[in-house]
Amino acid sequence: MRVLGIETSCDETGVAVYDTELGLLGDALYSQVAMHAEYGGVVPELASRDHIKRLIPLINEVLSSSNTEKSQIDAIAYTAGPGLIGALMVGASTARAIAFAWDVPAIGVHHMEGHLLAPMLEKSPPKIPFVALLVSGGHTQLVEVKEIGDYTLLGESLDDAAGEAFDKAAKMLGLDYPGGPLIAKLAQGADRTRFKFPRPMTDRPGMDMSFSGLKTFTLNTVNKFKEAGTLDLQTQADIAAAFEEAVVDTLAIKCKRALQATGLKQLVIAGGVSANQRLREKLEVMVKKEKSELFYARPEFCTDNGAMIAFAGAQRLAAGQSSDLTILAKPRWPMNELSTL
Ligand code: KG4
Ligand code: ZN
Repeated sequence: MRVLGIETSCDETGVAVYDTELGLLGDALYSQVAMHAEYGGVVPELASRDHIKRLIPLINEVLSSSNTEKSQIDAIAYTAGPGLIGALMVGASTARAIAFAWDVPAIGVHHMEGHLLAPMLEKSPPKIPFVALLVSGGHTQLVEVKEIGDYTLLGESLDDAAGEAFDKAAKMLGLDYPGGPLIAKLAQGADRTRFKFPRPMTDRPGMDMSFSGLKTFTLNTVNKFKEAGTLDLQTQADIAAAFEEAVVDTLAIKCKRALQATGLKQLVIAGGVSANQRLREKLEVMVKKEKSELFYARPEFCTDNGAMIAFAGAQRLAAGQSSDLTILAKPRWPMNELSTL
């Protein structure tokens, strides 16, 4: 079965063709990051308009790069949520219209299920059941994956998502949006011990998290040096490193608890923040001690992309599932509402 996947939930237009026999045949991404950068974050209306401009050319490009004729597409998968409503509507209505015109089924995919399954596109994929840490700009959740669609929430951030905290801390340090990769870059080679930031909610049991306090801690630290007129580049880098250490340590502690609580031996990390090198390093050390294994996708499949939607959709379509003719776009969509295959 050959599936065309379409992702437009936020600020990247992603398209891919995935074949259940042959694997990923082609994918392309158009990122709106440069367009939103001057506003310091995603402007929803601009995002929707840009998806309209980019989507059809990108679909044509991927059909061509994957040597796929329209007639070879058996089904369409599109991100139905969660995300920005206008942005979702562009992908959903385009996917639904193409499916109608080509007379093939279509399915609305959960964006976080896409992230969650993305590591399965890699050479040595994890095998279900596993524990998953979903860390993106909008979500920070620890989930027990018993089968595709059977997700038990073990813990989540009670306030900001980890990616959101990275973005806000970056802004305080005068960095552009999205700030996660820029904080990581600035922190490279910095003194990771000069400042000690708190590891929120690690002194009590449980797997819930909180990252808004770290944001305040960062702001106070930055302001202290600003007021003294001593916020030099080295200090900025050391603050970035202290922030990154605190987030990564906190996530590692919670992931360790999730492995211990479930008795599972595989940890999957997914979503934009899972591209973070320091997080991967710390988790590698932790899983080794827990006699477990760590899995993640290649960096470009950690952040939003069409391949993960084509793949997640293909699993459901191959199991006979599809959505009706309704254009499905759900800005909020809890993962526990998903059905199993
Ligand atoms: O999954 P994603 O592309 O979009 C959402 O579904 O939210 O995640 C984007 C988030 C942003 O907050 C970005 O700053 C963060 O992922 N991010 C990173 C890194 N790369 C992206 N955070 C830390 N380190 C990175 N290397
Ligand atoms: Zn995402």
